[in-house]
Amino acid sequence: MDKYALVTGADHGLGYELVKKLLEREYIVYAGRLKEEEQMLDKLAESFSGKLTIFKLDIGSDASVKAMKELLENVVPCLDVVINNAGILGDITKNIFDELDFEEIQRVINVNAVGTLRVTNSVIPLVMKSRQKLIVNISSEAGSIAQCEREGWFAYCMSKAAGNMQSALVHNNIRKKGGKVVVIQPGHMATYMRGHLDTTAAFTPEESAEGILEQVLDRALPETERPSFIDNGGNPLAW
Ligand SMILES: NC(=O)c1ccc[n+]([C@@H]2O[C@H](COP(=O)([O-])OP(=O)(O)OC[C@H]3O[C@@H](n4cnc5c(N)ncnc54)[C@H](OP(=O)(O)O)[C@@H]3O)[C@@H](O)[C@H]2O)c1
Repeated sequence: MDKYALVTGADHGLGYELVKKLLEREYIVYAGRLKEEEQMLDKLAESFSGKLTIFKLDIGSDASVKAMKELLENVVPCLDVVINNAGILGDITKNIFDELDFEEIQRVINVNAVGTLRVTNSVIPLVMKSRQKLIVNISSEAGSIAQCEREGWFAYCMSKAAGNMQSALVHNNIRKKGGKVVVIQPGHMATYMRGHLDTTAAFTPEESAEGILEQVLDRALPETERPSFIDNGGNPLAW
């Protein structure tokens, strides 16, 4: 039986690696790409002929997510796995004594927190038609209030904390119907999220993607009242 997956923010970085590894696990994958000039996915589509569909997606836009919903409803019977990966960092230099850029903070929250909910809301009927009914939200330790030691990163930390709350709310909606939300801290990865390749990172995005899929697909996920909030090795994080 065919299995279907959706990944957002798949242009490069963790999202691209998740798409690649889902294809290797024989999923039929729908990959949202923000920038059409990013070509890595096209090469993957050639290698996995007929198994990967790439479409333009801005999760910060109602219209773009609506277009995705219409596309998916016409081509897939269900979505077994949705990976909400797309995200942006925003300013990480300012603290409360600086002049904060509230428009930027709202833009980051609109993408990281509201955007994830926008996507999940649009595809939830397809998720509930599947056997796996799995939603994976890529969060961060930066979203943990219990572990917060930073004094800045307002936009990013607030957006990931809000994303964690919406994950819990969605999980409450679907768990009694056989669905699950898993919240993932992918680890510090060598990606371009900071605008340059982060060479100080602990993981390559390929390593983190493999760890994440081992946790959410290759092992039996526990039935839990709250979503699991785990790192790419399965270790729990404090909310
Ligand atoms: N890197 C880390 O150390 C780290 C740590 C913890 C959590 N994370 C999380 O891991 C996820 C992946 O990040 P990454 O490190 O792989 O960074 P990345 O390479 O910058 O990937 C983020 C992806 O999201 C896309 N994106 C940005 N805004 C979007 C929008 N409005 N709509 C749709 N797609 C959008 C980006 O597209 P473009 O780049 O083409 O604009 C990019 O493809 C993010 O949720 C991030 O918060 C990362």
